[in-house]
Amino acid sequence: MAFVAGGALASAVSNAGGLGLIGGGYGEMDWLEAEIKRSHNSDIGTGFITWSLAKQPALLEAALAAKPKAIMLSFGNEAPFARQIKDAGALFICQVQTIEQALSAHDNGADIIVAQGSEAGGHGAIRGTISLVRETVDRLGNLPVVAAGGIADGRGLAAALMLGASGVLMGTRFYATQECLAPDEAKERTLDATGDATVRSSVVDMLRGKDWPAPYKLRTLQNDVLDQWHGREEQLSESLEEERKAYDSAAAERDFDHAAVIVGEATGLLKDVPLAAEVIEEIITQAEACLARPPGCL
Ligand SMILES: Cc1cc2nc3c(=O)[nH]c(=O)nc-3n(C[C@H](O)[C@H](O)[C@H](O)COP(=O)(O)O)c2cc1C
Repeated sequence: MAFVAGGALASAVSNAGGLGLIGGGYGEMDWLEAEIKRSHNSDIGTGFITWSLAKQPALLEAALAAKPKAIMLSFGNEAPFARQIKDAGALFICQVQTIEQALSAHDNGADIIVAQGSEAGGHGAIRGTISLVRETVDRLGNLPVVAAGGIADGRGLAAALMLGASGVLMGTRFYATQECLAPDEAKERTLDATGDATVRSSVVDMLRGKDWPAPYKLRTLQNDVLDQWHGREEQLSESLEEERKAYDSAAAERDFDHAAVIVGEATGLLKDVPLAAEVIEEIITQAEACLARPPGCL
């Protein structure tokens, strides 16, 4: 999770038995190096937005110098980075949104595929999680497939395992944890929202000046800015300069009626802001109960 999954969250997840990933995002070297230093567990990884990494490949060198357990690439052509990651001894994780991308990642040497459905918070595409995960598992044979998008509790983990996934990747659930770097006001909003209250849109990227390639759009909580501009992107582009200034001020003031809270449909499942380790423990306990006694479980 770009800029909100720092070293503290990644370490907490890995210390609790998961694999924590620092959100390298668009790539700010100072931020990345500081967060790598802040992590107290060598068994963490770093995630990058592939099309953005292609503009600043030095970021990958900095991440690999810390001997990470894994590097995850998402949103773009992973091929140019595969050899460097694998030669450094890191697990090469590719997050994909389509079967075509999954096959390409497989051919480019991915060790783990994350199949991300559109329910996910942050950037993504259009396919839903359930059939994408199932189909990816079927087509990739023995390569581990991890399910992402809309999973925030043990029932989701158990369901993903039933689909043939080897595990789950969660963003939204960890957004509402103590260690996440998101502002408290934003975390609070995720607790009040139902899963109906998110939208996948290009509006926030236009306002932030992030030039995302198709087909990727950003899922966030619906707010006044989305009410005003989603579906009216052409009109927004006509007054973009002015609207960008207003957006930047709102973000600086933590005014989340206007600035984005980046979470997915799983926001409707969040009820608290626990420690990351508590999330992991509860999810595993719940999933074990589900798997021992389906259906209905907890
Ligand atoms: C706040 C936030 C930021 C994210 N940033 C990134 C990112 O920089 N790179 C990336 O590959 N995925 C990013 N994601 C998507 C996650 O990798 C993951 O696919 C998603 O969170 C899974 O769905 P969920 O949110 O329903 O758990 C982000 C997700 C969130 C919630």
